Amino acid sequence: MSSLAPFLRLRDPPVGPPLPLPASLARVYGPLRLPAPRGRPRVLTNFASTVDGVVALDLKDHAGGADISGSDPHDRWLMGLLRSVADYVMVGAGTLRSVPHHLWTGEHICPEAAGSYRALRSSLRLSPQPVNVIVTARGDVDLHLPVFASGKVRSLVLTTPAGARRLAARKAPPYVQVLPVGRGDRLRARSILQALPPTRPTPTLLLEGGPHLLGDFLSEGLVDELFLTLAPQIAGRDPGTHRLGLVEGRTFAPGHPLWGRLWGIRQAGDHLFLRYRFPPPSSGPRKGN
Ligand SMILES: NC(=O)c1ccc[n+]([C@@H]2O[C@H](COP(=O)([O-])OP(=O)(O)OC[C@H]3O[C@@H](n4cnc5c(N)ncnc54)[C@H](OP(=O)(O)O)[C@@H]3O)[C@@H](O)[C@H]2O)c1
Repeated sequence: MSSLAPFLRLRDPPVGPPLPLPASLARVYGPLRLPAPRGRPRVLTNFASTVDGVVALDLKDHAGGADISGSDPHDRWLMGLLRSVADYVMVGAGTLRSVPHHLWTGEHICPEAAGSYRALRSSLRLSPQPVNVIVTARGDVDLHLPVFASGKVRSLVLTTPAGARRLAARKAPPYVQVLPVGRGDRLRARSILQALPPTRPTPTLLLEGGPHLLGDFLSEGLVDELFLTLAPQIAGRDPGTHRLGLVEGRTFAPGHPLWGRLWGIRQAGDHLFLRYRFPPPSSGPRKGN
């Protein structure tokens, strides 16, 4: 992917030292600055959405992100870049079920840039691949899927006590750790963060979905930044078609609106690559930009 055209840089975050990107990555992205951690793992999220706010078509053979982003090469490259600065990449079981053969690594989503991603992880003193974290309440996941059984990534299943009992009945491959979290039938986002095995003092968690898990993290004020790819298509909805939006299962506005700050804008072709920073909950709601 050495031929990938650089993003057009329209706005960059105002603070934070740039990460030591290898020249091959810096040529495409420019400087990558990340928010300072807030006394817990830094939580970044990355989604692609249509202009009308659809993130999943939820149709057989059209369940993954490619139908939303159009398999845009800059989107794949940026997903790979973000995975390459993460200690952990996390998804809910619904996302795993929609792309069961996926591995949440830079190399998997953008093999063309694999060497540069490896160099970046090495200069950040990160393990060769991020730990892949799957969140499930029921524990009904297939431990033969590549994320668990390929041996290419270490994976961690965070689940309820009932889910852990269900999974204990199936033999987990050696690279998989199953951890019960809390006592209830859902996992709280804060408990999820606390359950992550320590890697370094300020690790980075990249939350890649889906909309239900994102809703839970937002509702506890635990999302630092949203990387949002806006794809230039309109998916549409009708009464017979349920299509997922960016957040599901939680409502914020008008009672508790979540206002972010627009921290970054990049453009490649007709796609926009936006970054929104969210303040800690104690800052209270903002009325606008
Ligand atoms: N466009 C994008 O950028 C993007 C990104 C990600 C996903 N998606 C799409 O979104 C769709 C899936 O949406 P979704 O909202 O169902 O995905 P999801 O949030 O990944 O999955 C929901 C499932 O994850 C588990 N889960 C989530 N939060 C939990 C919590 N707090 N505690 C315990 N378990 C929790 C539960 O699993 P169990 O049912 O096993 O208990 C729940 O049923 C897919 O079609 C996927 O392709 C799109």
